[in-house]
Amino acid sequence: MRERLLAAEKVKSIDWCEGRLRLLDQRKLPTQELWHTYDSVADVAGAIRDMVVRGAPAIGISAAYGLVMGLRARLASGGDWRLALEEDFQLLAESRPTAVNLFWALTQMRERLERLKPGEDPLVALEAQAVSIHESDREANLTMAQFGVELIRKHQGNPQNLLTHCNTGALATGGFGTALGVIRAAHLEGLVECVYVDETRPWLQGSRLTAWELAGEGVPVCLNVDSAAAHLMKTRGISWIIVGADRITANGDVANKIGTYSLAVLAMHHGVRFMVVAPSSTIDMELETGEEIPIEERAGAELLEVNGQRFAADVEAFNPVFDVTPADLIDAIVTEKGVVERPNAAKMAALMSRRRLH
Ligand code: MRU
Repeated sequence: MRERLLAAEKVKSIDWCEGRLRLLDQRKLPTQELWHTYDSVADVAGAIRDMVVRGAPAIGISAAYGLVMGLRARLASGGDWRLALEEDFQLLAESRPTAVNLFWALTQMRERLERLKPGEDPLVALEAQAVSIHESDREANLTMAQFGVELIRKHQGNPQNLLTHCNTGALATGGFGTALGVIRAAHLEGLVECVYVDETRPWLQGSRLTAWELAGEGVPVCLNVDSAAAHLMKTRGISWIIVGADRITANGDVANKIGTYSLAVLAMHHGVRFMVVAPSSTIDMELETGEEIPIEERAGAELLEVNGQRFAADVEAFNPVFDVTPADLIDAIVTEKGVVERPNAAKMAALMSRRRLH
């Protein structure tokens, strides 16, 4: 299946080109395909904060490349580059709080610097580390797609209706996608009747990004408002909800785009299976439960305005952009290290002690 998946890779949103980072502006899709080129760490941190690039793995990869550009500038200005680089680590770490892939990537970069041998060029080493983070995410996507398809097939071998939330595709990762990677692979295997896509208020990652990616590949797709989920589960024979994650804690709780938790509660009520697909870089074994995950709250204007025009009444808005789904509502967590069914702390610990399969 791997070759078919590779052949199906069309969209990419992150390009490291001659020491500069190019990002496809995800705020403009699908009406405009606009690329920006970045050559400073501050601009990359701004691009993450302002959602030019979004999706947990894509944020981590971009931050890694951002740090390479930070190091280049620090080396050029002389002085204690290690000390100065701490400001760049800090700047990137403050860009968004919930997706742990960002902090995971920064830790990988820091550890690479700590392993520098005498005389080794730090810039060459960090650039190679960033490229490796990018490449390994791509590989993880391919492995997860295969595991996810096996799981779908294990329960039912004929074409099925699936439901997804937010965007977890090529735009959000270094490759094929996480949850959307499984869905795309399932389509290639003839297992998809229709993919229902939550529009995903307020940023509309579903209508703008996921629907665009799926339609571009000829996957049958149907858009719905987020609040149609219960009705869809009751009337459209949805067999799986398949979503990504921004952070998974040691007990298997999952933070993902706001609305994911309600989908899991509804899935339990309707007997619909619930699958989370995420690379092991999304698993935070330092946190015991989802209660400890910092949940990003963005400006109320995202709910009160459309294109800068206020349409809501003159009130305050509460805008948490992620929520936490408890492990006991999840049927399976699919990672590149393997699949954990009915997750709990013991199973997550066993998974994380395994070596990568690819
Ligand atoms: O606010 P976003 O668009 O960065 O949120 C993205 C999500 O919630 C995704 O589901 C998650 O990051 C997984 S992406 C493979």
